[in-house]
Formats: sequence, structure tokens, C-alpha cells
Amino acid sequence: MPVLPPWMSDPAGPAAREIAPLYWIMFAAAVVVLAIVDGALIYAGIKYRERPGVAAKQFHGHNLLELAWTVIPTIMVVTFSILSFQRLLVLNDVDSGAEMTIKIHARQWTFQFEYPQSFGDARFVTRDGKSLTGEQELHIPVNTKVKLEITSEDVIHSVWIPNLGGKKDAVPGRVTGLSLEADRPGTYKGQCFEFCGDGHADMLLVVVAHPKSEYAAWAQEAVARRDRFLDPETQRGAELFRTLACSGCHKVQGLTGGTVGPELTHIASKANIAGVLSPVNEENLKRWINDPLSVKPTTQMPKLGYDAETIDAIVKFLLTLE
Ligand code: CUA
Repeated sequence: MPVLPPWMSDPAGPAAREIAPLYWIMFAAAVVVLAIVDGALIYAGIKYRERPGVAAKQFHGHNLLELAWTVIPTIMVVTFSILSFQRLLVLNDVDSGAEMTIKIHARQWTFQFEYPQSFGDARFVTRDGKSLTGEQELHIPVNTKVKLEITSEDVIHSVWIPNLGGKKDAVPGRVTGLSLEADRPGTYKGQCFEFCGDGHADMLLVVVAHPKSEYAAWAQEAVARRDRFLDPETQRGAELFRTLACSGCHKVQGLTGGTVGPELTHIASKANIAGVLSPVNEENLKRWINDPLSVKPTTQMPKLGYDAETIDAIVKFLLTLE
């Protein structure tokens, strides 16, 4: 699936297709205005410049000119307004034809997505009975009108995915709606569009549009991954990781903040352990934690002497850090 540069002039959904022509109309009008105004300026500058033997003609007021530069911009602004409102009518109609509703909770500085309990063959209920949630990546099926119910938990944010079109503020205490539909599979980049503090520039989101036939399979995998994380044994591993020596050296985003050793937030997606042991799997992680020095004599990580049960739980937890 191609990663498209975020740009509204390359529409990949109905909302973006509504907006794109308006973008080009305004762009063309701006080019024409620029050419006329700057052309006249340059022409006048050359033709009427000060030079020996020529005296500048003094005049005041010119009805035709003044009428022209009042009437033409007025017509342009009114035209743009009408075209914009026509499109807003379509864009703001988020309910009619919506097949699926996904909630978005914006907060400094991430978007959290909450899927419905089910959609078609896709099931989103995790082992704790709640709906699947996710961050950063929003997964949708193609050719499906999705209604986004957007809110914020702190300040005002804004959801914008240029290729799919539309832009909507996330306002604390309110729910706003935005339509999302992609007509071809792909990965579409988006960005928070309201300055919301230090992390604003990094408040990104990605929409992944799946072929309809593959969407249920994706949901199943996502739920399985979440269930692995919610497994009591994994949770015990996370608690052990947080309370034992691990946390003193290793950072795991949202859990521990150690800085002596490598960060492990995405250890399960890494190519190797400590640069020497690959792949990152259960067997290798156990071997490493059991006796790091026997694998890599130069490592600073000591042999900690945990029992097999403790190591099992910690490894189970580490394997969920994708
Ligand atoms: Cu959130 Cu800018």
C-alpha cells in the first residue's frame, strides 16, 4: 500500500473530492489576480518612472478604476462563499449513509480511537468486555462512510487528513462529527491542526484503509494483540518489570523511565536483542535475561538471578511491546 504525501489536491475520498475543485478554483483566481495586480504595478513602474524631460501627471480619483477594484473582488468573495457553503452542506452531513462510527478522544498529544463493538464481520470486543482502542493508527475499511465522533480531554485540537478531506476541531466537553471515507486502500497521513502546546507538531495520525475483505482479519489480529496485553500473566509481567531492577535501567513509555540501558518501548519489533541476539522471540529473550553476560560479555546488564516463572512473565510482557 503506497504512503501518499498529505496533500488535499490528491483526493482519495468523497470529502476530499468535494474540496479539491474549490482549492483549484481559488488557486487559479489567485494566480490571475496576482498577474493583473503585479503586471499593472510593473508596467506602471516602467512606463511612468522618473526620467529627464518627463513630468508626472497629477490626477485624483478615477471612477471606472475604483468601481472595478470594488466590484470584481466583491463578486469573487461572494462566489467563493457560495461555493464553500454548498460544499459545507455536503461535508457537514456526517450522519446520512454513515455505516460505522468511531470515537476519537484527542489529548495532549495523541489521538485515541475507540472502535464500535462490531462492524460487519469485524469484532472489536477485547477480553475485558470493552471496545478495542488504539492510538496513532486509525484502521478503516475502504468505500465505507465512517462517522468520526470527536472530542477532547484537555485543550482544543483538530483532526485533519488532507487526502481524505475535511477538518474538524476536537473541543473539550463537546462531540463534533467528521465524515471519513477512502475509496482506495492505502495509508493516509494526518495531523493535529490546532496549536495545542509543546507537542503539537508531533501530534500525528495515520489512517490505514483496508480492502473490505481484509478488514475483519485486521480487527481479529488487533483484538488478539490487545488480549495478549490484557492477559493476567502479561499484566503480572508488566508489574514485575516495573517493580524489579528492570525499571531502574530501561524505559518503557508509560511505565518506566530508566535511561541507563536501551529503551524497550518497541522491543518486540526490534531486529535483535542488544545487537547480538536475533530474532527477538521468547526463547532469545529468556536466554538473554537469564544470563546476559554469557551472550554478550561486554554488556552492562548483570545476571539478575530471577526464577523461571518471573522471567516467563516478564518475557510475555516484553513480547507485547511492538
Ligand atoms: Cu493537538 Cu495540535
